[in-house]
Amino acid sequence: MGKITISTLDKMKASGEKFVCITAYDATFARIISDVGAETILVGDSLGMVLQGHDSTIPVTIEDMAYHTRCVCRANPQSLVIADMPFMSYSSTDQAMANATLLMQAGAHMVKLEGGTRLSATITSLVERGIPVCAHLGLTPQSVNVFGGFKVQGRTPKAAKSIRAEAVEIQDAGASLLVLECIPAGLAGDISSKLDIPVIGIGAGRDTDGQVLVMHDLLGLSTHTPRFVENFMTGQDSIQGGLRAFVDAVKSGAYPKDEHTYV
Ligand code: KIV
Repeated sequence: MGKITISTLDKMKASGEKFVCITAYDATFARIISDVGAETILVGDSLGMVLQGHDSTIPVTIEDMAYHTRCVCRANPQSLVIADMPFMSYSSTDQAMANATLLMQAGAHMVKLEGGTRLSATITSLVERGIPVCAHLGLTPQSVNVFGGFKVQGRTPKAAKSIRAEAVEIQDAGASLLVLECIPAGLAGDISSKLDIPVIGIGAGRDTDGQVLVMHDLLGLSTHTPRFVENFMTGQDSIQGGLRAFVDAVKSGAYPKDEHTYV
């Protein structure tokens, strides 16, 4: 696998080849994830939960994200590195610009923001200044207190219509990628086929262009896992084997299964 860019993902979407994203927070795992063939690495603010032991991503700071992005990028992975903008680090366009600059200078190739329409102007400004953006819709974990828990989104016709419209708006604003989290599989499939940009799903069924999981979840290390998580260490005797099994399962269409999806 040569260096992956957004053009690689665009071509994969066009040809119907599924791509893989796995979270990483340090150089060792970034190297392994790149070596097993995952096209993208997400330095997720999930590190607040799986590394720092918090019960949400809200305590994570931009300094935490820049530190872990630097650690990941020192591995010089072939994978495209996406870094999460943490809670309240993009509440104005100027603030987003300053904080996204820190992540890009830490080595990220793209930043990820949670939200849709309200971020359109911010997304356009970032992209115009050379910062590619991945948007994130559906269950956006930084809004867990607004949702009243980690709940499936987009189940009512009104909510589904709003997610559909926001997906088109963030594409029009200039986003290069979209993560859809915990929404019904049919809705995620519709959005993926309607958009030109690649869509990565997590708990969003099998019809998105790529799949992402938190590394600790797919390796069976997390205590509480949502229904969309499969333990890929089953039958494997090494971490490399578990990560490769996830990559293979996404590419062959064996993951996600019906039991991992919401309706
Ligand atoms: O922070 C993270 O790991 C994420 C994924 C769950 C998509 O945003």
